[in-house]
Amino acid sequence: MTIKAVVFDAYGTLYDVQSVAEITEETFPGYGEMITQAWRIKQLEYSWLRSLMRRYEDFSAVTRDSLAYTLRILALDHDGAAFARIMDKYLHLDLYPDATAALAALKGHKLAILSNGSPDMLDALVKNSGLDAVLDATISVDANKVFKPAPEAYLLVEEKLGIRPSEVLFVSSNPWDACGAKAFGFNVAWIERVTPQAMALACVETVAIAPLTMFKAIRTQMDELGVAPDHRIRSLSELPEVVATYEP
Ligand code: LAC
Repeated sequence: MTIKAVVFDAYGTLYDVQSVAEITEETFPGYGEMITQAWRIKQLEYSWLRSLMRRYEDFSAVTRDSLAYTLRILALDHDGAAFARIMDKYLHLDLYPDATAALAALKGHKLAILSNGSPDMLDALVKNSGLDAVLDATISVDANKVFKPAPEAYLLVEEKLGIRPSEVLFVSSNPWDACGAKAFGFNVAWIERVTPQAMALACVETVAIAPLTMFKAIRTQMDELGVAPDHRIRSLSELPEVVATYEP
């Protein structure tokens, strides 16, 4: 079986969600780290809760609501302009430094994003970062109105690309996403950006656990969900080697 398409998660995998830290700190000095971590934690939580509640709203609404929650719990007064400035960063997130080269090295395969992001958010982000030149498709779960890790979300890859799950390598650094994709039937490469050793060290080296450490603890380490990714890599640059293992 060869790999015909390499499909990437967007937020946290190609794009660094932590890159909002600068604008959150600049807008609310002293609160940047807390806002950055609570916002992302709540954003994902709301996507799963809304899916379970069968009350789908697209990811831009979920991203707005989770930012509103975060600023409210921290009692941070703000005007519409400050809110909009922070939200706008989601359309200009930094690419991980290894993303562009990894995509170029995978040329010859169909390359796509499958993301919880709404079509407008993803289109702007992909265009602003220049990835529109290398991606064959940007697929939003919005078409099926349910968020990953629901199987109906992963189903969209075959629907949009016409490629069977067994011929897809799905790449994510989000453990819950890697597990969801594996349970669905994709070949999966999980990017372990924070090693268990670094994780353990971050916990012993600090007296008070920082919000970022807490985020790493709950959102970067492999989950206990009864499934395991096929490949565990450290960076996107390892992907060509992974794809080569499927060549006959
Ligand atoms: C994505 C986020 C949720 O689907 O990581 O891109």
